[in-house]
Amino acid sequence: MKYYIVTYGCQMNVHESEKLAAICEKMGYECAENKEEADLIIFNTCAIREGAEDRVFGNVGALKRMKKEKPNLIIAVCGCMTQKQTTAELMLRRFPFVDIVIGTFNLPNFAAYVEAVKAGRRQLELYEEGDIDETIPYKRTSGENAWVNIMQGCNNFCTYCIVPYVRGREKSRKEENILKEIREIVAEKKYKQITLLGQNVNSYGKDLNPQVSFAKLLKDICAIEGDFKLWFMTSHPKDLTDEVIDVIAKEDKILKDIHLPAQSGNNRILKAMNRVYTREKYLSIIEKIREKIPNCRITSDFIVGFPTETEEEFEDTMSLVEQVKYDSIFAFMYSPREGTVASKMADQIPLETKKKRVNALLALEKKIQKQEGKR
Ligand code: 5AD
Ligand code: SF4
Repeated sequence: MKYYIVTYGCQMNVHESEKLAAICEKMGYECAENKEEADLIIFNTCAIREGAEDRVFGNVGALKRMKKEKPNLIIAVCGCMTQKQTTAELMLRRFPFVDIVIGTFNLPNFAAYVEAVKAGRRQLELYEEGDIDETIPYKRTSGENAWVNIMQGCNNFCTYCIVPYVRGREKSRKEENILKEIREIVAEKKYKQITLLGQNVNSYGKDLNPQVSFAKLLKDICAIEGDFKLWFMTSHPKDLTDEVIDVIAKEDKILKDIHLPAQSGNNRILKAMNRVYTREKYLSIIEKIREKIPNCRITSDFIVGFPTETEEEFEDTMSLVEQVKYDSIFAFMYSPREGTVASKMADQIPLETKKKRVNALLALEKKIQKQEGKR
């Protein structure tokens, strides 16, 4: 019996697929080279933009024929997209041949769902918001890099973003569990880099009792003996403290590479996005990083065409990119997500305008990279 996992979206999903792989192998499944030779196909989905969801619908739909020829094939769809009830229901309606549709919080019970399908039942399990699961190991698949989840969820409710709805509120893992996992990774001597994951790593530990700061976690990890580099993502500018910047500057193990999504360079849009910082505040953080960590790589995410964004306001994003001279950026066209505040705003921007803006921003990035000799 063989399994095949198709992963969409961010590093968190890549890492959760490593957990799914471990669950499958514990059930006795082996890793398949492709979908055709698999007895169990899992789609670990992403809901961040409409495009990601369209791809999932297309690729799941394409399995109809395979299932007809191979009735014992089990097809499962899980992850952020199916954490939303409406999408999960639509998935089941459109594709009655799909056996398992579950959300992000149900992943630890995956083996039980597979067993239930084999016993003749179809499953639909969703919403239950659970604690971080510490019981299931990972089958690490990212070469010399080991992902380590330190927290899940997000409390920020940026108005465009679906994440708080599908990942729940911020929950941090206990520091001792994180340190134990990292000690074990280092002892294996197979990994050169450890990457800490969380939707908002800088607010790590605020929900713990007693609280632990992200800066302390970083220091404690660096104190673990061994030859490894440490990286983390993603940081929210509002929570990146001076203390964290100091720790990055001081600790040799930490990569001098910060991903600090700005999203927009215009204060009115930042406010409408509920980002809780201004352009000026963001620039002051960049200045601090440049001063304390010379040659630090800085990267960012931007959304263009947020509802009501005018041409002048978009120009502010262009000028921010010009001013910061990022090493690299990701630029996304705004995609309305059902249930979010921004999706209900008047004055959604036409696709053509969004395309023009995203192309202009990426062209500017290329120009800067060339000028500055950046990677
Ligand atoms: N539309 C477009 N881009 C989005 N992002 C998050 N939500 C949306 C959306 N609705 C982008 C942000 C975030 C990155 C992971 O995805 O830039 O930082
Ligand atoms: Fe989404 Fe904002 Fe949370 Fe990031 S910080 S996951 S963009 S709500």
